[in-house]
Amino acid sequence: MQNINPTQTTAWKKLREHFKSNEAVQMRDLFKEDPERAEKFSIAWEDFYLDFSKNRITEDTRALLLELAEECKLKEAIESYFTGEAINKTENRPVLHTALRAAKSAEIDAEGENVVPEVQEVLQRMKEFSDDVISGDRKGYTGKAFTDVVNIGIGGSDLGPVMVTHSLRFYKNHLKMHFISNVDGDHVHETLENLNPETTLFLVVSKTFTTMETLSNATTAREWFKRSAPKEEVSKHFVAVSTSLERVEEFGMDPKNVFPMWDWVGGRFSLWSAVGLSICLGIGYDNFEALLRGAGKMDKHFRNTRFEENMPVHLAMISIWYNNFFKAETEAVIPYSQYLELFPTYLQQAIMESNGKSTDRNGNKVDYQTGTIIWGEPGTNSQHAFFQLIHQGTKLIPADFIGFKRSLFGDKDHQDKLMANFFAQTEALMNGKTSEEVEEELKFKKLSQDEIERLKAFKIFDGNKPTNTLLVEKLTPESLGKLIALYEHKIFVQGVIWNIFSYDQWGVELGKQLASKILADFASKNVENHDSSTKTLLELYLK
Ligand code: F6P
Repeated sequence: MQNINPTQTTAWKKLREHFKSNEAVQMRDLFKEDPERAEKFSIAWEDFYLDFSKNRITEDTRALLLELAEECKLKEAIESYFTGEAINKTENRPVLHTALRAAKSAEIDAEGENVVPEVQEVLQRMKEFSDDVISGDRKGYTGKAFTDVVNIGIGGSDLGPVMVTHSLRFYKNHLKMHFISNVDGDHVHETLENLNPETTLFLVVSKTFTTMETLSNATTAREWFKRSAPKEEVSKHFVAVSTSLERVEEFGMDPKNVFPMWDWVGGRFSLWSAVGLSICLGIGYDNFEALLRGAGKMDKHFRNTRFEENMPVHLAMISIWYNNFFKAETEAVIPYSQYLELFPTYLQQAIMESNGKSTDRNGNKVDYQTGTIIWGEPGTNSQHAFFQLIHQGTKLIPADFIGFKRSLFGDKDHQDKLMANFFAQTEALMNGKTSEEVEEELKFKKLSQDEIERLKAFKIFDGNKPTNTLLVEKLTPESLGKLIALYEHKIFVQGVIWNIFSYDQWGVELGKQLASKILADFASKNVENHDSSTKTLLELYLK
């Protein structure tokens, strides 16, 4: 992969010029000028339809953004990503979550070895294990079938599995799923309070098996279990997912109960690996396989489709347009599905842990913006919460609207109301409301001219707020797999263009180190070695 400073490319310079003359472009006008705009600025692929016409882009903008992608050698970078080159250079690792959903017959080398047979072997174990738990063939220490599964993990070892399990709960079986992540003892104790040790299965998920939160929660869960059950029965109720067999053994777990994962899978991209065991248990292996299939299809689309028709490339480049030229600071993701309520939270880790970097691939400080701030909540709830600021605030917030043509319970009346809002919002964000329109509306309501004059300014909407609309047939395991992979590849493209390493996370380390130090200070009751603010706070806490 080449290290190209994007701001030094010809395309970037052209984009800067282009921006100057197009900054004030009004989307309303673009639609008036070109009746074929919607068709030109959209991509239809399988059950996905991406409309990016409601953006402040012209055909020239799009061409220049794609030129930037070419000049930053995106095509070559995609090949490096898919073929197992060690593109995570600061950790010297390939980035191969795509191998987890590749065809059985694929050959993908990591450090000279084809990883696909190993991946398939683990998938087979996951299938057998989850089938046995779901059918009740695998039992707890008193011979009863499992009723509850507790996933203990944090970050990538929690967010992906909990988001998918939650999003696909329409497809769930009888097992009750629980997720413990926070080291806040109230989280683990509240969860355990309502569980029966005889029928509870624990999955301890940690790539490194060194994460303080996960090890503390696993220890608390194990002690809770041992209070009711003989200690030799722990192995029946605790399984682990990790790259480190030794650490799992050290922790006192049976190596037979360990599902492996690999260094070449980043934590925040690991839900496709054994980290997704809770998904298999919650919705069954066939549905998990469909999730992988969907992601695999998106992988093929991304790798093999020319940029002009490529969904992840478009989402990434349009976002760069706003981030680096319009200086937009944040992006909203608004799923019009209550099932997807955890999707924005999941994306926060995927996107911000990946592209929240300020050192470029040459080791220099960047002098341009990188990772965007991601946030969002499902519509229509968010319309009644923060949409006011998107509509009439001072900040430019590009937003992705994700909606499904069909609901899962099939209630047409509700679905029509939901989707009417979905379409109305992007239209309103683009069109706004002019002074004349406000006046007309108020006249119609029979307001006096004085009142109209007094109120008019507050009721005007500038509009011209950009959105992407992703319309999907239906929320299924396969379509969710496609959706997640779409954003994973958007992250990749942006990292390539910004010339940063998207697959490490050194920034998280500092907080971890300081927390360990303060924990030691608690034990020694010596808080001298801190700034006066922290010292006072620590003294107050210890009092
Ligand atoms: O939050 C930092 C992080 O390193 C994430 O990248 C990772 O997903 C999480 O911690 C959990 O790590 P592990 O799976 O090793 O416990």
